[in-house]
Amino acid sequence: ALVYEWSGLTQLALTLEKQFNVQKVIVVPGNFDEDETVLTLLGKEAAKHFNESVNSGQIVAITGGKTVASLAQFLQLDDTQKNITFVAARGGIGHEMQMQANTLVALFAAKMNAQYRTLFLPEHLSEQAYQAMLKEPMVVDMMRYYDQSDCVIHGIGSAEEMAIRRNSSPEDLRILEEKGAVSEAFGYYFNAEGEIVHRIRTIGIQLEQVRKCNNLIAVAAGKQKVNAILSYFKVAPKQTVFITDEATANAIAESL
Ligand code: BG6
Repeated sequence: ALVYEWSGLTQLALTLEKQFNVQKVIVVPGNFDEDETVLTLLGKEAAKHFNESVNSGQIVAITGGKTVASLAQFLQLDDTQKNITFVAARGGIGHEMQMQANTLVALFAAKMNAQYRTLFLPEHLSEQAYQAMLKEPMVVDMMRYYDQSDCVIHGIGSAEEMAIRRNSSPEDLRILEEKGAVSEAFGYYFNAEGEIVHRIRTIGIQLEQVRKCNNLIAVAAGKQKVNAILSYFKVAPKQTVFITDEATANAIAESL
């Protein structure tokens, strides 16, 4: 029965791969909305893919969020993955402490005896502060890491939920709504067509840097994220490997 179930999931994954036109989709059994342990399965599959695709000496940028955090328990010392550097994909403090990119890089690095780079900046910088920051050696250094990232591990969020979580101002919330923001990933907001409609002004990995990176691992699941996932994958880079759960995958396939 298990083999049968898994082959059904493989079919579902193939459907999504075609629909999204990405390298690979992995569907884990279950429904994250009803069973929180499904998050563990997502983390396990994402970590497995990470183990298979990231080599010694590589630079790995990661975002925050509970989904990306779920990889942590499956990371361990590995002879084929020495000297990895985990880099916080964004400097902003957009999450509670446990879920922040800055916290997760330290956690991931501890598991793998790797190195990590953090950047602690306010989530929203004024234009003036932002321009000044770009010249800071610390920031220049971070930009170099973003430029050289071999892998990016990121979550996908619903635009509205992320804006609320990030304590966006009423003004920002209004702009997002006006512009039709549906999804959010690494600080960028996308509309239903997958076009960028807004970006948080804090230091972080640039979309161009994500696009030229060869190994993108996106992990997201949940009913309230279905539209966000559809939006993000309208124009997601082809080299993305997407890990989700069965319920989310079914909802996506049905939206066809
Ligand atoms: C954030 C990422 O940390 O996590 C976002 O910067 C992503 O890109 C979000 O949308 C998703 O968070 P969660 O907690 O739902 O996995």
